Amino acid sequence: MTDIPLDSTSPLEPGSTIGIIGGGQLGRMTAIAARQMGYRVAVLDPDPDSPCAQVADHVVEAAYDDRDAARELARISDVITYEFENVDPDAAEAAGEITRLWPSGSVLRTTQNRVLEKEALKRAGLPTADYVKIESLDDYLAGLESLTGPWVLKTATSGYDGKGQVVVNEADDGAAFRELEGKSPAMVLERFVRFKLEMSAICARDADGHTLTFPVSENDHVDGILDTSIVPARIEPHVAEKASELAISVAEALDVRGVIAVEMFLTQDDEILINELAPRPHNSGHYTIEGCNTSQFQQLVRVLCRLPMGSVEMSKPTVMVNLLGDVWEAADGKPDWADALSVPGTNLHLYGKAEARKGRKMGHITTVGDTVDVALHRAQLSRQKAKG
Ligand SMILES: Nc1ncnc2c1ncn2[C@@H]1O[C@H](COP(=O)(O)OP(=O)(O)O)[C@@H](O)[C@H]1O
Ligand SMILES: [Mg+2]
Repeated sequence: MTDIPLDSTSPLEPGSTIGIIGGGQLGRMTAIAARQMGYRVAVLDPDPDSPCAQVADHVVEAAYDDRDAARELARISDVITYEFENVDPDAAEAAGEITRLWPSGSVLRTTQNRVLEKEALKRAGLPTADYVKIESLDDYLAGLESLTGPWVLKTATSGYDGKGQVVVNEADDGAAFRELEGKSPAMVLERFVRFKLEMSAICARDADGHTLTFPVSENDHVDGILDTSIVPARIEPHVAEKASELAISVAEALDVRGVIAVEMFLTQDDEILINELAPRPHNSGHYTIEGCNTSQFQQLVRVLCRLPMGSVEMSKPTVMVNLLGDVWEAADGKPDWADALSVPGTNLHLYGKAEARKGRKMGHITTVGDTVDVALHRAQLSRQKAKG
């Protein structure tokens, strides 16, 4: 790395190195965007052949909580970011003392804990489903009394893709609590929202406080995992505007430098409730690679490198469908990509993961079309064809 002071305001020159903590697909797609613009990429991950390592210039093979390794990443990088929330904030901050860490360690601490996340939203006056913090069986039983059911009980930390949560349809004597007990220091009991739809907005915010929000995505989850993102979301323009404003408020309240995804529920009464935050590119923003002038990954690279943000305009409706390990299972281990790609307007993304397990995110297909219906039909057809 070049010796750039932590408070430098100059853009990073191409050839500089972006360090990424976490080597998954989000890191991989960020790395590809970075390399497209002539930057180098260093990644820290325990897996030397992680999706990001496969396209990176340097690999630091270490656990996410290895502070010395995080410092090593910092020494070879000109700026550092993280691509998932469950990295260790102490290690990230140790790296941040050497090289600029965006978003900050405090954003990471807040968003990796549902209790802190919801408290931050509450302090900022932003809407969430009613919830209570749970630290004991008594808290849980009292929560069932104080909130109207049905409910969802979630671990405060390390949940993802619907893991670490239980839907509670009828008040029980503690069964749900015991199922999650010990997995996390605290839990959150929240009202189950009978939503019209789920949506997300991804807001990029630069060091000068400028914000730009990508078009709102309508998200369909299956078994707690994102399945389909439809953009533009099939909502009234004023709802999209409000969702976008909420995402900006979140980015400002947390003082994010980078990108933050804001997952939301649209209730039956057209009220918007914020469900979850992710201070990084997001699965529901993969559509931006083909759908927008600037992808969420390139936008992050631009912010990290102190370059102006790019236009987020869309020219055509775009739909993304995830390819989980289930597709491989249906295709006896060998999906038919040729047939999948015979559908017009489709783009295939595979993350280079060797083992296809059920529920594991292996790749995605993005389809553009003249209308949302056409794009949706093509994306689903393409995935169906992949299954053989
Ligand atoms: N309070 C809720 N009401 C209704 N559905 C919920 C609620 N919380 C979560 N879900 C469903 O479960 C999915 C995953 O939950 P989420 O809190 O986003 O955790 P994660 O994405 O980290 O697994 C959501 O996208 C939504 O479909
Ligand atoms: Mg979520």
